Amino acid sequence: MKPFKIERYFAKYEFSAKYLLSCSDCESLTLPELLALASPQDRDRFESLHLGYTESPGLPDLREAIAGRYETASGDDVLIMTPEEGIYVTMRALLQPGQDVICVYPAYQSLYEVAADKGCRIIQWPIYKDGGRWQIDIDFLRDHVSANTGMIIINFPHNPTGFMPDHSQFQAIIDIARENNLYLFSDEMYRLLEHNPDGRLPAMVDSYEKGISLSGLSKAYSLPGLRIGWVALKDSEARRCILGYKDYTTICNNAAGEILALIAIKNADKLVQDNRNLLAENLRLAEAFFQRYANIFEWLPPLGSPVTFPRLLLETSVDDWCRHIVESQSIMVLPGSVYDFPGQHFRIGLGRRNFPESLAQLDSYLQGPGG
Ligand SMILES: Cc1ncc(COP(=O)(O)O)c(C=O)c1O
Repeated sequence: MKPFKIERYFAKYEFSAKYLLSCSDCESLTLPELLALASPQDRDRFESLHLGYTESPGLPDLREAIAGRYETASGDDVLIMTPEEGIYVTMRALLQPGQDVICVYPAYQSLYEVAADKGCRIIQWPIYKDGGRWQIDIDFLRDHVSANTGMIIINFPHNPTGFMPDHSQFQAIIDIARENNLYLFSDEMYRLLEHNPDGRLPAMVDSYEKGISLSGLSKAYSLPGLRIGWVALKDSEARRCILGYKDYTTICNNAAGEILALIAIKNADKLVQDNRNLLAENLRLAEAFFQRYANIFEWLPPLGSPVTFPRLLLETSVDDWCRHIVESQSIMVLPGSVYDFPGQHFRIGLGRRNFPESLAQLDSYLQGPGG
């Protein structure tokens, strides 16, 4: 498969740069912080855990608890796996070579790369700038769906722009998928992190019989190191295919991660609210920063997610600029080229507690002689 450009870029700098100003996750919890939220029974369950193989679809109590976070899903509809595995296995299991796959663009690379590697033709569905905001064209989707389409892939709130469609656009996407009897894969890793809760979209598993919701604990729940996520879908034949494929990846999940995930899901409201508060504060700082530097950056405010995708207005190429600030200032931002997206964009992440400090570092660099 082709190199995963975002992951390679992070691998280069994530554990060496001092100011990580581009992360898509929120500040991670420590194990003691998570365990402090556990009921005595769950804590005991964790401490006396038997480290044998686990049930392939996931711990039944965890599947039930996750289902309880949806409107209509049952525990049977939820299959636990790492988020990235949820993308990989679903694409491998449900797509056929030669099919068309329509995927939002730009996108987290695996959302289309796994399908491309399987021999599908990728149709990029652009998220574009229009009237000072990000936008999507529903007619584009309507015009590009055909008898050869195998799947539509969306990701809202969107990495990297933070874009979200409105409710009527979301419903139109479902209507198009339904009219054409298509799988609709909805990467909802950033769901619950809408900057205005009124904009929150329903989960796909609750909205469409052939819809697939991908979610996990890495972003809104502050627990990327658990490597626990899930796909939720009502289509039992698709579930059977996905589980069959999982036998060739992880077979089953890590036992400790599942119990810790159960503790997290039981405390979901608190974990998510803490992150929403953090994002709201950091977003305010970002707003003031981009207003102050409107001569250097064009910025379209995000509607959700911890990420946002400003554009560098300087003559320097954004790749050189990103390389320069990480190598000279230890400030890491992600150039838009890792998304194969032109136009001098770069990704900023708002979810970390040291965001004010990292942004202040960039601010003082811009005011200094090199900036
Ligand atoms: C849109 C999107 N989907 C899926 C993932 C994968 O999540 P994880 O790294 O926890 O497997 C990411 C991670 O950044 C993401 O941004």
